[in-house]
Amino acid sequence: MPNSIVVGMLWGDEGKAKILDELVQEAKEDNNQKVWVVRFQGGPNAGHTMCVRKDDELVKFVTHAAPSGLTSNSEIAIGPHTAFDTEKFMKELNEARELFNYDAGIHISERVGILFDYHRIIDGLQEAKRKNKVGTTKSGIGPFYMDNANRATRITFADYVGDNFHDKLKEVLKQKNKDLEEAKSLIPEFEDYSLSNYIEKLIAVHNPIREELKEFVCRLEYRLREALENGENIIGEGAQGTMLHVNMGTIPDVSSSHLLAPEGLASLGLPRRAFKIYGIEKIYPTRVGNGFMPTLAEDEFGVETQKNSGEAGATTGRKRRVGYPDWVISKYAAMLNDLDGIYLTRADCVQDKDLKVCTAYEIDGQEIAEVPLKLEIAKPFYSDKTYRWHLWDGTKDLSDPLKADKELAEKRKSLVEAGRDGLPEGLREFVENHDEYVRVPTIGVSIGPARGETIKLYKKYRPLIQREEFV
Ligand code: IMP
Repeated sequence: MPNSIVVGMLWGDEGKAKILDELVQEAKEDNNQKVWVVRFQGGPNAGHTMCVRKDDELVKFVTHAAPSGLTSNSEIAIGPHTAFDTEKFMKELNEARELFNYDAGIHISERVGILFDYHRIIDGLQEAKRKNKVGTTKSGIGPFYMDNANRATRITFADYVGDNFHDKLKEVLKQKNKDLEEAKSLIPEFEDYSLSNYIEKLIAVHNPIREELKEFVCRLEYRLREALENGENIIGEGAQGTMLHVNMGTIPDVSSSHLLAPEGLASLGLPRRAFKIYGIEKIYPTRVGNGFMPTLAEDEFGVETQKNSGEAGATTGRKRRVGYPDWVISKYAAMLNDLDGIYLTRADCVQDKDLKVCTAYEIDGQEIAEVPLKLEIAKPFYSDKTYRWHLWDGTKDLSDPLKADKELAEKRKSLVEAGRDGLPEGLREFVENHDEYVRVPTIGVSIGPARGETIKLYKKYRPLIQREEFV
């Protein structure tokens, strides 16, 4: 079983956690070694949703700060480029201890920066002052990465669990005082702010958490290398999606981290040659927050898909805007992430619908299959072919996954059992044409939210379509 990195190919919310959870199961079945799930960027702006069967009931579990390996009792690790929200991490860890008896190893890079409440406040302040809003998740991500780059205002995990934490926090907060004073008038829940009270409050919140987490501090890059050498399995968990990359996404409406798979490997000190990189692509793109999406579907398709598929942010609850498939973006993401394989997700959500596919943009009167810096100048060009498939008779209302599961679990199971040969014709054509265009093989098609509800298109980790054919 290869080690793998899992990344989103669009604007996030592609279903990464579900596929990652299945990769963990495959790794566990394959070799009896430990499996590690390592978060390598982003922070609590992510919302990784897993639907896990427990005593025959489907249970929904969402992680924001902790790696999704909590549901599978995997070793979990926090990489140095992550925005580490220790409060949320503790909460999720305790929930998983209660729900899934989580008791595996926890490894936190001594280098990772801590995301504090003041990052959230300053995020809110910056958004309030912006003329053109980014529509951030207000999790503090932008201000956190500013502190990282600024160096002096970065509080690492080593500082956090060390003896000088209080002094360090005071020193940093003095530098934030001007912003926090300003936030008083703009953010209602912050109107009582005073520097000394705020320091006391943060110390009171964090002291017990520091006590609980201090045993997990480590030189992560070395521990991961040892794990690799011991034949243990490592799975890197990306957050957000390629189009939200701070440099390669839709600037300025992007997140602030480096989220490409090769960057993940570099930040964890791991060798590319020991990994497979998998891109997760929801068949139709969605976007939450501001920013342009060339194939935005403002028609019945977009409205119905949003509603019937429960397309709302796991972190903020905001509605996600839905678009038609945009393979120009898929190919861009495949290139930037150096993908070995793709998982297409939510094929069930768009069954019985006519899907048109964007295969180029019209830019200044020319047809171009490249992603420009300013997507606003790109008018989608749709190929003549439309795709349509039918998976089951019965409910198409998938807005509540737990409710739909009762009726659909068996139908999904038989589709998975039928495998590649059981793919309906329209979906098969979609996959073949997609792979031809993107030049990376699809190795699985997800047709449901629960573990195992993915049709595998390959035998034993080898895609049926070999990558070499495309190079
Ligand atoms: P930030 O990461 O909170 O600063 O938000 C920047 C942009 O990225 C906003 O448009 C957010 O809605 C979007 N965003 C951030 N994280 C995620 C995610 O995990 N899924 C989808 N969109 C996200």
